[in-house]
Amino acid sequence: MRIDSLRARPIFDTRGRPTIETMLGAGPLSATASVPSGKSTGSHEAHELRDADGGVHQALANVNDEIANAITQRDFTSADDVDSFLTELDGTPDKSRLGANAILSVSIAVQRLFALEAGVPLWKAIATRAGTTPAAPRLYVNMMNGGIHADFRLPFQEYILVVGEKTSVALSIVQAAFAKLGERLGDVPMGDEGGYAPAFDVLEKPFEILAEIVKEFPNTSIAIDAAASELFTGGHYTLLDKMYTADELAVVYESLVTRFPLHSIEDPFEQEAAGDFARLTAALGDTTLIVGDDLTVTNPLRIDDAISRKEINAVLIKPNQIGTVREAIAAVQKTQATGWKAICSHRSGETDDTFIADFAYGIGAHGIKAGGLGQKERLEKYERLLAIEREAETM
Ligand code: PGA
Ligand code: ZN
Repeated sequence: MRIDSLRARPIFDTRGRPTIETMLGAGPLSATASVPSGKSTGSHEAHELRDADGGVHQALANVNDEIANAITQRDFTSADDVDSFLTELDGTPDKSRLGANAILSVSIAVQRLFALEAGVPLWKAIATRAGTTPAAPRLYVNMMNGGIHADFRLPFQEYILVVGEKTSVALSIVQAAFAKLGERLGDVPMGDEGGYAPAFDVLEKPFEILAEIVKEFPNTSIAIDAAASELFTGGHYTLLDKMYTADELAVVYESLVTRFPLHSIEDPFEQEAAGDFARLTAALGDTTLIVGDDLTVTNPLRIDDAISRKEINAVLIKPNQIGTVREAIAAVQKTQATGWKAICSHRSGETDDTFIADFAYGIGAHGIKAGGLGQKERLEKYERLLAIEREAETM
């Protein structure tokens, strides 16, 4: 394939911050992609290039000048071929020269171009590329936001309803559950990811409320993202003004698992506390998913470490943590090959790009985190999953 045009422009994400949208052309084909941006980012993520004032001028210039010049000079045989070329062109281990945001916008658009060239839906092209079996992911719907996504009105970052049904059925459950929760909570603000942001001074309260909802709807359970790196300062964790050691926090999780239908716990400890992750996985891993996000940052090498030390049993997959679709697929392959679950995720700063829905379906992810129903950019991911369900039925 010869990519003959490449153009990036700034757009706004859901927090009103600038991010990148890239349009590619190859003969009669064209494709567009935009990239999301995290707030509770792991310190080992690939580098999102921002100007001193938070803008993306340099990252845009890198796409429009250096990447455009280099890429339009040659033919590529596959999307992997382009991604490897981009990684080499950048030349740094964390994509800090050209920017992981700049590179990923091109990488996703390239994946779309190759799907168009093959005449198959995006999810199918991803499945073929990854050697995976496509399947509908469980919906991990953000019901209540806390942590840095909601000014710490709740200690944990995400309180999630997990629905294990096909998308069309799951979404009708989610809609009813979200409305019910809204009635129950009354007039509360929305958090960054389109879930409610109530404030409670009892740690268990959000779990009690979600457990009531779980009782009413079939095939539902609870998940949390503790995002514990954000709770960790001065050598301890702080939740609702109370300090916890790692061991004390583990006792909290064990008690929550005993009392509530808690299906998965993401980032229960801060990102360097691999030993604490491993101990919790040994204690709860038979019944509960212990998910690495900041710990593993979609990085195949960090996932290798986690596998060898049995730190977790599930991995959050966010393409923008690593910067190319090729490496995100490698992260999935390592995760699934070891028998762990892959859960694909949006970011707290989102765009209307629905790539993550196709990616999650294509790799047959255990779940997808796409936010609450209170923001259009989150709903678009669920709508894309619905469209995929219909597409897959006719194939
Ligand atoms: P972020 O949060 O997108 O703000 O990093 C999401 C997460 O921690 O899973
Ligand atoms: Zn997380």
